[in-house]
Amino acid sequence: MSDDLTNIEQDSAQVLPRHIAVVMDGNGRWANKRHLPRIAGHKAGVTATRKIVENCAKNKIESLTIFAFSSENWNRPEAEVSSLMALFVSTISAEVKKLHKKNVCVKFIGDRSRFSDKLQSSINESEQLTEGNTGLHLNIAANYGGRWDIVNACKSLINKVKNNEVSIQELDEDLFDSFVSLNDHAPPDLFIRTGGERRISNFLIWQLAYTELYFVDTLWPDFSDEHFESALSWFAGRQRRFGKTGQQIMNEQLPEKLKSI
Ligand code: IPE
Ligand code: IPE
Ligand code: MG
Repeated sequence: MSDDLTNIEQDSAQVLPRHIAVVMDGNGRWANKRHLPRIAGHKAGVTATRKIVENCAKNKIESLTIFAFSSENWNRPEAEVSSLMALFVSTISAEVKKLHKKNVCVKFIGDRSRFSDKLQSSINESEQLTEGNTGLHLNIAANYGGRWDIVNACKSLINKVKNNEVSIQELDEDLFDSFVSLNDHAPPDLFIRTGGERRISNFLIWQLAYTELYFVDTLWPDFSDEHFESALSWFAGRQRRFGKTGQQIMNEQLPEKLKSI
């Protein structure tokens, strides 16, 4: 058999990601193209977000983690930042009850302490309302940065070491992982970035170590059900090798009967 097994087609109906992470990029350009203020693009982006949440729930995806606001986005013009903050408050209050009815469990990752009291309360209330839900896990990254996440994990770990709850000798990747965000989720299988840029922009840098990266030029407000389906089909065609050879992966996927032939 050929050693080149990089393009093995897999049955898309069978290979769905358990966890999808999305950088929802391109709202500003979407608005610019229409001679609208940037905030109009962010508002249009909310509709696309609602759609992907519904599609993930429909496809029984376990977790969806979306990048709503990065730790670097504070560097934008003050007017854009404050209108984004207002949009977060109004979107959370408009959407959370609906998400709760759909059995979605909502969590936020990132440093929420920089947000207004009002926004922090609506974040806390939405988490409390939905915490018992057993459907899709929707994680919203807000004032999130991957480097912040790693430094934050180090701080928690050092405190545990100081209190003799953890020893340096027992520190390994699994233990470190238990201190970073989303440690109660499988790592993302599929990363989607819209808007044409081919970069991670400080999103989940620890968690994305073995994620399949999918970049699409479509601007986030235009990201439709069909675009989502295309991303899933692309993912289903990947062969995830985790350092092994293609041949090994093929053998692992063979039914037991065939392996012994
Ligand atoms: C992503 O869209 C949304 C946020 C960062 C909040 P952008 O606002 O970055 O859109 P572009 O990249 O300027 O088009
Ligand atoms: C990443 O998008 C952050 C979010 C989507 C919230 P940006 O548009 O801020 O990323 P850069 O700065 O262009 O890399
Ligand atoms: Mg952008």
